[in-house]
Amino acid sequence: MVEFTLPKNSKVGKGKTHKAPAEADRVKTFRVYRWDPDTDETPRLDHYEVDLDKCGPMVLDALIKIKNEVDPTLTFRRSCREGICGSCAMNIDGVNTLACLHPIEDIKGDAKVHPLPHMEVVKDLVPDLTHVFAQYASVEPWLRSDTPPPSNGERLQSREDRAKLDGLWECVLCFCCSTSCPSYWWNQDRYLGPAVLMGAYRWIVDSRDEAAGERLDELEDPFRLYRCHTIMNCTKTCPKGLNPAKAIGEIKKLLVARR
Ligand code: SF4
Ligand code: SF4
Ligand code: FES
Repeated sequence: MVEFTLPKNSKVGKGKTHKAPAEADRVKTFRVYRWDPDTDETPRLDHYEVDLDKCGPMVLDALIKIKNEVDPTLTFRRSCREGICGSCAMNIDGVNTLACLHPIEDIKGDAKVHPLPHMEVVKDLVPDLTHVFAQYASVEPWLRSDTPPPSNGERLQSREDRAKLDGLWECVLCFCCSTSCPSYWWNQDRYLGPAVLMGAYRWIVDSRDEAAGERLDELEDPFRLYRCHTIMNCTKTCPKGLNPAKAIGEIKKLLVARR
């Protein structure tokens, strides 16, 4: 039988424990992944005990409290605190989600907080999104049209055509879906993954766009599109309740229909 052993420097060790104040009644422990590229140390899990009576309700509130009051070296992305910017995506208790939308009270026992899986880590909870954003740029997620816009106004759309974009435009590019997709884990050099494919579909079905044919040509590829095997992890994990697997299925249907 084959035995796999992790290289020594990729094992996650036990880190420091930061105790809650002695007077705290409702204490929750957050076990947070830490890794600093500027040291030779291997990753570790630091334990932070947080007084929930003095903390906001979401996991992001706890991380901000830790950073402000306990450990300013803890590094993570965040901006809007409202599920709009997509920047606080991380893995909480084994599920990719947005920390600002994830209530602490939904977590049983200690909260385990890691960066999005299968991405290079920049530091602590910050994944390197350079590659996935380059993939997103490659599908040209903007209106492509050779026809000039009307001189007296904007390009208009019927209500029915506008409705086709619902469930697509709401994507906040958090990449929780792509980083939960096994096909993307193993093929991200060539497979575009659910977030990017849904972004491509959003323009393919936009009645104002005139490049649907070229967009489909660019996707018709055994790796860029067809690595999706309808495993559905993407849709299950999307913190915005979107359905990237369905969008991928619709692209496949359009490709079959035009044959
Ligand atoms: S449905 Fe496709 S994109 Fe979504 S998780 Fe499965 S393989 Fe990945
Ligand atoms: S589809 Fe959902 S999970 Fe994927 S990037 Fe968009 S908002 Fe995030
Ligand atoms: S901080 Fe913007 S989505 Fe969480």
